Amino acid sequence: MTVSDLQARTSELTGVIERASSTQELEEFKLAHLVRKGSIAALFEDLKNVPKDTKPAVGKALNELRKAVEEKFAEKEQSLGGGVKKASQSSIDLTLPSRPIPVSAPGHEHPLISVLNEMVSIFVDMGFSVAYGPEVEDDEHNFTKLNFPADHPARDMQDTFFVKPSADWKVGSDVKPLVLRTHTSPVQVRLMESGKLPIRAVIPGRVYRNEAISARSAACFFQLEGLVVDKGVSMADLKGVAESFSKQFYGEDSTIRLRPSFFPFTEPSIECDVSCYICKGKGCRICKHSGWLEVFGAGMVHPNVLKMCGIDPEIYSGYAFGMGIDRTAMMRYGVSDIRLFTENDLRFLEQF
Ligand code: DAH
Repeated sequence: MTVSDLQARTSELTGVIERASSTQELEEFKLAHLVRKGSIAALFEDLKNVPKDTKPAVGKALNELRKAVEEKFAEKEQSLGGGVKKASQSSIDLTLPSRPIPVSAPGHEHPLISVLNEMVSIFVDMGFSVAYGPEVEDDEHNFTKLNFPADHPARDMQDTFFVKPSADWKVGSDVKPLVLRTHTSPVQVRLMESGKLPIRAVIPGRVYRNEAISARSAACFFQLEGLVVDKGVSMADLKGVAESFSKQFYGEDSTIRLRPSFFPFTEPSIECDVSCYICKGKGCRICKHSGWLEVFGAGMVHPNVLKMCGIDPEIYSGYAFGMGIDRTAMMRYGVSDIRLFTENDLRFLEQF
């Protein structure tokens, strides 16, 4: 094997490539010459038989042969269309069908809304209607007509977000500032003021409090309020509804207990607990080892509230209740940080 042999072989092989007229022929060439057991590899194998003095020059010529053949081959592959396949892989093929968009991403229910809807539907099945009210409220509905005294701490700047009623409004003006409602109870007032009796409604919605944000408390969260006003409504009705709700939402084997409490707009006021559905009342981390979970505040609508809303407390009576949704959802889904609900992280949301 000499340098001139190799040069001749180079033109021979490139000539064969040049003349190839189909990808089939090219493929055959590749199998004969370019693969590991092909003719070019055999020439490299032969190199060891070349005399030492000519070996460097022959080795160089052999490398040149391989390079020339490979280049020619690649060039021909392109021109015969084999290369077209490669080119299309790296560019956009407009004939391909589009990638499917996962159905779960756009249209699925937020865990807070799932819990809220489930609660609402339990009450609807018990004959309640659903009512809504504004999130920006006036002082009268959020506090005054709910029998909050003028100096009640809930009215304080620390608890309430205030909203300027007009652009030129100033602190100290006669006009009271608006508020972001601190609870859904002002919608009770709106329902009673409307004058349509009897009332049997639940009110789902967002509420706002100027609280330090932490894993357990958010500045915006959901509540579900309930109001029943009719002739002859008593605490026994409230207890019955509370029990039925708890069995439907927390399980047939759950029990409730009522504790005395205080709210300005109810008298008497109670707190309703349900037996912990995780440990069945034995005591666990979720119920802080008490066996009970706090479910809602409630009570008989205060006669002052009825009067302020134009209802005669001598004829009508009512009960009301209000529960938080976020903590219930946290317990139900084992979510340890309330902020996850509103951070819009799809990795979190897609789990529900
Ligand atoms: N509004 C109360 C709160 O946000 C919850 C509440 C308690 C609502 C008792 C009621 C009620 O209707 O009767 O803490």
